Amino acid sequence: MSSMLLFSLMVTLVILAKSNPMDEDTVNMLVLLPKDNSYMFSMDRVKPAIDHALSSIQENQTLLPGVHFNVIYNDSDCGNQALFSLIDIAMQLQKPDVILGPVCEYAAASVARLASHWNVPMLSSGALAVGFMQKSSEYSHLTRVSPVYSKMGEMFLAMFRYHKWTKAFLLYTDDTLQRNCFFTLEGVHLAFKEEGYAMSIHNFDETKHVDAEEIVHAIQNKERVVIMCASSDTVRNIMLAAHRQGMTNGDYIFFNIELFNSSTYGNGSWKRGDKYDLEAKQAYSSLQTVTLLRTVKPEFEKFSMEVKSSVQKLGLNDDDYVNMFVEGFHDAIILYALALHELLKNGFSQKDGEKLVQQMWNRTYEGIAGQVSIDANGDRYGDFSVIAMTDKETGTQEVIGDYYGIQGHFEIRPNVKLPWGPGRLLINDRFVEHTNTTPCKSSGGLGESAVTGIVVGAFLGTGLLMAFYFFRKKYRITIERRNQQDDCNLGKHRQLREDSIRSHFSAA
Ligand SMILES: *[C@@H]1O[C@H](CO)[C@@H](O)[C@H](O)[C@H]1NC(C)=O
Ligand SMILES: *[C@@H]1O[C@H](CO)[C@@H](O)[C@H](O)[C@H]1NC(C)=O
Ligand SMILES: *[C@@H]1O[C@H](CO)[C@@H](O)[C@H](O)[C@H]1NC(C)=O
Ligand SMILES: *[C@@H]1O[C@H](CO)[C@@H](O)[C@H](O)[C@H]1NC(C)=O
Ligand SMILES: *[C@@H]1O[C@H](CO)[C@@H](O)[C@H](O)[C@H]1NC(C)=O
Repeated sequence: MSSMLLFSLMVTLVILAKSNPMDEDTVNMLVLLPKDNSYMFSMDRVKPAIDHALSSIQENQTLLPGVHFNVIYNDSDCGNQALFSLIDIAMQLQKPDVILGPVCEYAAASVARLASHWNVPMLSSGALAVGFMQKSSEYSHLTRVSPVYSKMGEMFLAMFRYHKWTKAFLLYTDDTLQRNCFFTLEGVHLAFKEEGYAMSIHNFDETKHVDAEEIVHAIQNKERVVIMCASSDTVRNIMLAAHRQGMTNGDYIFFNIELFNSSTYGNGSWKRGDKYDLEAKQAYSSLQTVTLLRTVKPEFEKFSMEVKSSVQKLGLNDDDYVNMFVEGFHDAIILYALALHELLKNGFSQKDGEKLVQQMWNRTYEGIAGQVSIDANGDRYGDFSVIAMTDKETGTQEVIGDYYGIQGHFEIRPNVKLPWGPGRLLINDRFVEHTNTTPCKSSGGLGESAVTGIVVGAFLGTGLLMAFYFFRKKYRITIERRNQQDDCNLGKHRQLREDSIRSHFSAA
């Protein structure tokens, strides 16, 4: 009994000694996330995942023996606050050894630049924009542990190759404050541009008036494959308008993006319980949804339950406890711990930021939901799934295909009942450019099964759209775009984005 007491006293003393932030066995970890719980990656939502990761690290006697994590949480908001928090902490205490977050693009940009300058590794399950691929200079210390938009672009490229399509219509919502749909489709734009695919680009601002008829007319005479990014309601309105224009008979395919699996912004279903349900069900046979591929391990279930009960204790009640961001921060800490283990073994320390970054890149490890592979540029490979309507009578939607990022391989699942039969969708091959004099009526030249297939393809598109929107909604970027007139061209947008990230920083 007394030896037990003595033991626990010693443990306490050790813990006290270890929690001195200046101690060389202490890793100072700064977590920069928004306090505002309307973000799906808010501090309260992510904290249980971080706690879980840290306790599993401590449980492993050989991983980081004697190392203590001193975790400081600070508000990142979604703009300048992240940088201010980092600087305040560095001045009051000391520079952190590692930074987790921020997620929002503009907040992450300035922090990532300072992290590189200070030789501090930064890991985020956000910062998904294409611009962050520039690791050679200003983002050299940034590791991204969620599938980023450029990887999603590669997924679309693989799928387009599979179906032998070479042209697309990119359609997205954009406003002056939040630009997540723009950033999302930018990933597709990059992949398609490198491949020399033809693209028509159209945007609108769904926070203002959306004229679905007008949007559909813009599509009508251009491309047959449409990739959308907007809210689920806007997607549904566009699909309904397309249906009324006779564009859901197999001549067109619509893709929607739903990466983050949040019920808040719809679940990809056509069902709303309103008078348009029947029409929407028919329309959604032309829509396909792109989402993240899910693997489920028993460990993950346990993790989900833990996160859920912690978050519920804080009074946050919704369906989306574990999402890509929450999971990503867990896996970020595991990755950091594995890298630090290697470093300590070789006589370095947590202060050797650049060496740590090198250890984290180009490596595969076991995350909470399955294998995580980080490419040689420090970005995670993404696996994605495609959901489509497989039964037009009941309106059932199922996963029909998967994309594996490391292999760069897209495949249709073997046992699904493909609405278009066993063949591929041959939209670009069969349909020449649509002109005003050729009204878009039925299936012109396609066999019946092929027509159904195209319809399914369209369904996938809608899902893609939704995901983009959801993410966008959660960003509250307060940066104004410099020049709204330049909207009509995605290339210009890219320029604009990089400009605005820069100006944001210099303004700070
Ligand atoms: C503990 O960490 C070591 C070093 O990374 C690893 O080889 C081992 O598999 C881990 N053990 C467990 C139970 O996870
Ligand atoms: C940031 O961290 C410091 C140090 O722990 C703390 O004093 C401050 O209240 C934190 N700010 C926020 C907004 O969490
Ligand atoms: C989305 O979340 C729900 C529960 O919140 C889960 O049942 C479903 O499998 C998830 N879907 C994907 C694609 O992750
Ligand atoms: C999707 O949401 C609708 C209404 O919000 C609901 O009726 C339907 O059951 C949901 N589908 C799934 C698969 O969760
Ligand atoms: C990545 O790792 C593999 C072996 O694990 C190695 O062959 C390859 O050269 C590495 N790539 C880079 C760019 O470091």
